[in-house]
Amino acid sequence: MPFKISDVVAPGTLARREQPVLPVPGALVLRPWKAADASAVYEAFQDPVIQRWHARVAESESEALGWIESWRKAWADERDAYWAIADAATDAVVGRAALRQITLPEGQAEVAYWTMPLARGRGVAPRAVQALSRWAFDEVGLHRLELTHATANEASCRVASKTGFAAEGTKRSALLHADGWHDMHLHARIAGDAEVA
Ligand SMILES: CC(C)(COP(=O)(O)OP(=O)(O)OC[C@H]1O[C@@H](n2cnc3c(N)ncnc32)[C@H](O)[C@@H]1OP(=O)(O)O)[C@@H](O)C(=O)NCCC(=O)NCCS
Repeated sequence: MPFKISDVVAPGTLARREQPVLPVPGALVLRPWKAADASAVYEAFQDPVIQRWHARVAESESEALGWIESWRKAWADERDAYWAIADAATDAVVGRAALRQITLPEGQAEVAYWTMPLARGRGVAPRAVQALSRWAFDEVGLHRLELTHATANEASCRVASKTGFAAEGTKRSALLHADGWHDMHLHARIAGDAEVA
């Protein structure tokens, strides 16, 4: 039986091109991860706030290197895509931005991010999310980007609000963290939604 709806984005659209480097306002870039970033990733995951909101803890730089290798490989399978947020001048890692749960035929993905403790409070995550969202909508052709965070994670909620991800509701008891089940706010942006300045 023929499909009545064609793919929103054709499979292969990501895999057949190189993962791009995307400029981010404020002298930052989104760039693919490098093996040399392992120490920065290890350092980031020593932060108790990152540990609070992530299921995994890096116990060594070599474990962080293994994560980086999996992030680099993820591009080819078009399911997840991970970028380092880096200083454009020094190339130092200040955070991570990602598209996860990508479904090209349905035109959807989920946005995720963290920033290094010393980089926080300067709008790094919002600017990276804006740049990544613009690329996902305008260059890839995705239709809907979701962003979820624990309701207790107020800093993440601020990132969602500042980047125009409209609040759509609360998913009750939707994610298990080390301290128990958390309610999650669901935010989303649709292609064509007005950008927040
Ligand atoms: C959430 C997070 C990515 C925000 O990144 P950021 O680059 O600091 O983003 P912003 O500069 O826009 O700050 C967002 C909010 O963080 C809070 N904040 C401000 N300065 C801060 C600081 N020095 N340290 C921690 N939080 C700070 C404020 O509430 C701010 O909102 P406001 O600008 O309306 O006051 C970052 O706090 C982080 O990495 N947290 C741990 C990992 C995480 O929670 N990831 C998201 C999981 S859903």
